[in-house]
Amino acid sequence: MLKNKPDVIDEKRIREYLQTKWLGNTILYAEKMDSTNNRAKQLGEQDTENGTVVVTGYQTSGRGRRGNTWVSPEGNCYFSILLRPEVMSDRVSMITLVSALALTKAIKQVTGLDAMIKWPNDIIVNSKKLCGILTESSMDQTGIRYVVVGIGINCNQIEFSKNIAGMATSIRLETGKEISRSKLFGTFLNIFETYYEVFLETEDLSEFLEEYNNLLVNRGKEVKIIEKDKERILTAIGIDEKGGLIVKDGQGRKEMIISGEVSVRGLYGYV
Ligand code: BTN
Repeated sequence: MLKNKPDVIDEKRIREYLQTKWLGNTILYAEKMDSTNNRAKQLGEQDTENGTVVVTGYQTSGRGRRGNTWVSPEGNCYFSILLRPEVMSDRVSMITLVSALALTKAIKQVTGLDAMIKWPNDIIVNSKKLCGILTESSMDQTGIRYVVVGIGINCNQIEFSKNIAGMATSIRLETGKEISRSKLFGTFLNIFETYYEVFLETEDLSEFLEEYNNLLVNRGKEVKIIEKDKERILTAIGIDEKGGLIVKDGQGRKEMIISGEVSVRGLYGYV
C-alpha cells in the first residue's frame, strides 16, 4: 500500500512536539498492535492514569464504528486516549465531538488541508473521509469509569480497498507530501488538552458551537437520515450544546438527531 518507507513515529519524536500539562504524560508506543482501543481499554480496567495515550503505526485488528473493521496498514496514525472524566455519563458522546474539533484544527495546522467535520465525528477533506473516531466507555452505578477515544488518521496510505476507494483519502494523496506523523499527533494532543479542559468546565459543547458549526460539511445542505426502518431527506442546520444535529423539514419544522441512533449521508454519496 505504500511506495516509500513512512517517517518514523515513536515516543521520543512525539515528545519533541508535546506541550501538554497532563495529556500524554504516559505514552505507550509499539510498532504494531492489535488495536490501540483494545490496549487502552485494558489499561482503563487497571489503575492507569487519566491522559495515558497508546499509539502505533500499524494495527492488526483495528475497529471502526458500528462493528466495522478499520483496516490499518503501516504508515498511518492510530492512537487512543484514556480519559477518566468526572462528568455525568450522558456527556460521553460530547467528547467525540470535542475530539473531532481538535483533530480538524490539528490537521489544518500541520498540513494546511481544509478539513471539515461530517457530524458527529468523521473528518472530511475534499468530500472524502480522512480520519475516523471510535469512542468507547465503561460505566458503573457511580458513573463513568473510563472513556477511550480512538483515532485513525490516513496519513500515508495511497490505495484503499474497492469498497471504500471512492470515499476515503489520505494526507499523502491530498497534499502529495509525507508529513511528520509525530508532529501531527503531538499537535493534536496539545489542542485536544485545551479543548477538553473547556468541556470539563462547561460539561457541554456551548463554547464550541460556532467553531463546530462552521466546520460542518453538511451545514445548510440536504442530508439523508437513515433510521432503522425509514430514510428521510432533511436539511442540516447545526449542532446544539448537547451535540445533537438539528435538522429541519420542508415546512421548516425542526428536530434533533441523536448520535448513535441514525446514520447521516449526503444525497450524492458519502458526504
Ligand atoms: C470509524 O469507524 O470511523 C472509526 C474508526 C476508528 C479507528 C481508530 S484507529 C485507532 C483506534 N483503534 C481502533 O481499533 N480503532 C480506533
